[in-house]
Amino acid sequence: MTSTFAPPTPPVRMTDATDLVATPPMGWNSWNAYSCAVTAADVRDAADAMVETGLRDAGYEYVVVDDCWMAEEPGPDGRLRADPETFPEGMAALADYVHDRGLRFGLYSSAGSHTCQGYPASLGRERLHAEQFADWGVDFLKYDNCGDHRGRGPRDRYATMGEALAAVDRDIVYSICEWGQSDPWVWGREVGGHCFRVTDDAVAKWRAEDEEFGLGIADIADRMATLDITSAHGPGGWADPDMLQVGNGPDSGQSQHEPTDVRRPLTAAENRSHFALWCLLGAPLMVGTDLRSVDDDVLAILTNEHLLAIDQDPLGAQGTRVRCDGDVSVWQKPLTDGVAVGLCNRGEAPTEIRARPPVDADGYHTLDCWSGEERASSGELCATVSPRDTAVVRVTPH
Ligand code: GLA
Repeated sequence: MTSTFAPPTPPVRMTDATDLVATPPMGWNSWNAYSCAVTAADVRDAADAMVETGLRDAGYEYVVVDDCWMAEEPGPDGRLRADPETFPEGMAALADYVHDRGLRFGLYSSAGSHTCQGYPASLGRERLHAEQFADWGVDFLKYDNCGDHRGRGPRDRYATMGEALAAVDRDIVYSICEWGQSDPWVWGREVGGHCFRVTDDAVAKWRAEDEEFGLGIADIADRMATLDITSAHGPGGWADPDMLQVGNGPDSGQSQHEPTDVRRPLTAAENRSHFALWCLLGAPLMVGTDLRSVDDDVLAILTNEHLLAIDQDPLGAQGTRVRCDGDVSVWQKPLTDGVAVGLCNRGEAPTEIRARPPVDADGYHTLDCWSGEERASSGELCATVSPRDTAVVRVTPH
């Protein structure tokens, strides 16, 4: 007897993950600049500014609308609707605008009943929403962990959306934002994820006190240094220490909702350390500052070609903290042709930091990633580092 039952075809991704995200994704996301007040005009301006400022040409590719783009109620068919006030032309038109500028378009939803700001989300409607995203021209989905989970565990909830995205006729980068609560680096790739958030939200501060919201840059450095996740990180799947706060201050994003006495903007040195550390970690680089008012110093950090080359190195290794004593920490990231070394001064006074070269050679070549200065060298690496700043040296054996 022949059966009329056809087994479901296993979903096939259009492009293999190792090609789709061969290096950590780079782009801009609305949350750290605009929080829940984001509008279509903000996103269009960000896309224009990505082109005008040179961010696009430096490699930043995705323009992602975070939480709060949806109408308060889904459509009668369960589909998500764009907020008619703030995104009046809808998401397909916005995606077109972004694509027309040579960029890719991203959206946000959550693996729960609601988003973190209480808007409708995708649990139980994954297929429908994935098809909607594909129809609209979405290239990147940030998938958060808020709302009612209806008793379902994280792996199951994230796998359902992973399967739904794999079944649509479009490449969509799947950024799992589970905050690192259930070791998403262990199962993230298996459920189709391309990035796995491993931390709570990064805030625009060097350190956040216990009673304050989120994690400061140095707090995230400490967390990343204690997680043993380098083997999960590489082409096709990237550990994500959250989006960039470089260039942000007390009036950016969620910081504007905090009491004034806990607002501490990042200084120039802290901005440099933040960016250097994310590049040494091989992190996804999602710029989070208001590009209408970004200043040249911040842009110079975000487009530093030597640091971007370290982040985007094809080997795809995650840097690790190899030393931490007192105010000094040393990070190393293996590269295709050598090693990047970060010398971080977490203290309040300028400090000379010395480190053994990480390559097994009599002589080596160094590139100071901030100044661009190159040297032939031997012996110890040495840099005088300002308070809360980070020197980054690319070391290549002769
Ligand atoms: C969570 C996420 C953030 C951001 C907000 C939006 O806090 O971790 O990155 O997406 O939700 O509400």
